[in-house]
Amino acid sequence: MVKKSLNSNLHKANKAKKDEFYTQLIDIEKELKHYKGQFRGKIVYCNCDDPFESNFFKYFAANFNALGLKKLISTSYTNSPIAGGQLPLFEVKGLKPKGKEPFKIELNEVTDSDADGAVGLADVKWLLKNDANIATPLKGDGDFRSEECIELLKQADIVVTNPPFSLFREYVEQLVEYKRKFIILGDQNAITYKEFFKLIKENRLWLGYDNNGTKWFQVPMDYDIPTESRKKIVNGVKYFSMGRIMWFTNLDTTKRHEELTLYKKYTPEEYPKYDNYDAIEVSKVAEIPENYTGVMGVPVTFVDKYNPDQFQIIGHVGSVGADGVYSFANAIYLNSKKLFKRILIKNKKVKK
Ligand SMILES: C[S@@+](CC[C@H](N)C(=O)[O-])C[C@H]1O[C@@H](n2cnc3c(N)ncnc32)[C@H](O)[C@@H]1O
Repeated sequence: MVKKSLNSNLHKANKAKKDEFYTQLIDIEKELKHYKGQFRGKIVYCNCDDPFESNFFKYFAANFNALGLKKLISTSYTNSPIAGGQLPLFEVKGLKPKGKEPFKIELNEVTDSDADGAVGLADVKWLLKNDANIATPLKGDGDFRSEECIELLKQADIVVTNPPFSLFREYVEQLVEYKRKFIILGDQNAITYKEFFKLIKENRLWLGYDNNGTKWFQVPMDYDIPTESRKKIVNGVKYFSMGRIMWFTNLDTTKRHEELTLYKKYTPEEYPKYDNYDAIEVSKVAEIPENYTGVMGVPVTFVDKYNPDQFQIIGHVGSVGADGVYSFANAIYLNSKKLFKRILIKNKKVKK
């Protein structure tokens, strides 16, 4: 029994350690440039972001005026190994840290505080060093689920961050519960999580813009990366490359209103039916036939091209539930061969 709980604690610690990877400014800029008009007059909250270490905080602090933000809030987490790396915490006026105690930053304006003729991140640094009201210690550990962080969440209009993947389900559940707008990073796998998929299916959540290719994340030097091609060290900083990391949001995007151009015609030979479902197999999203009226099974990556005016998502592969709705439970077969995950869709604009 003792051994079991020791093992599960170790497992938890390992999982938590895996959460320590940090988003690069370039990736944040590439995505957030598309939403610029939507931040005006809004309160943005980065709730998994050690403020001066996080590029999310830096992006919003540096662009506070250009985006017309009303307020920027950022909270750090007690177990963050990078706290105080960029700006020693003892230099922050509102904090009197003994160690790396979690804290919050609340920025209501950014002016030329350091009087150097320009307004930017240097002014935020100056404010932190000189104004005791900007950074204040948190009472608890900075967990996004803690009461004080939930109070901040309630104030916020838009939450933007890369949350801990080990708590992704809970993280999204909380955003939905408090009906917040968000732009967050997550693994492509999340698409097939039951509750998450339901949100996609109901058009309450969709994918952002920059979801192709791999992204490099900064990691602590002792972060274990078994695959050689996925790691690099540049100027003493270690990076980990991850494919399939995607942006998820419920802010409107132009992308989700773009129609996928279809050019293929349906033939029963090219698009066979599954053994256990009344749906055809379409193995490539680009090859969705333009004239098929029934249900089609497509790869999970379809979600990145999903326009709800063009297609309807019926479900995910699996058994048909008692209510006739496809569920996640079972596999799908084609000519007795088990297939990888499929999303089931219908074309709303069938060309005859
Ligand atoms: C994937 S990292 C991303 C950090 C930062 N948002 C970024 O994009 O660079 C997730 C962060 O969430 C923090 N974290 C882990 N569990 C947390 C929790 N329960 N509440 C708040 N933050 C947490 C981790 O310490 C880690 O810094």
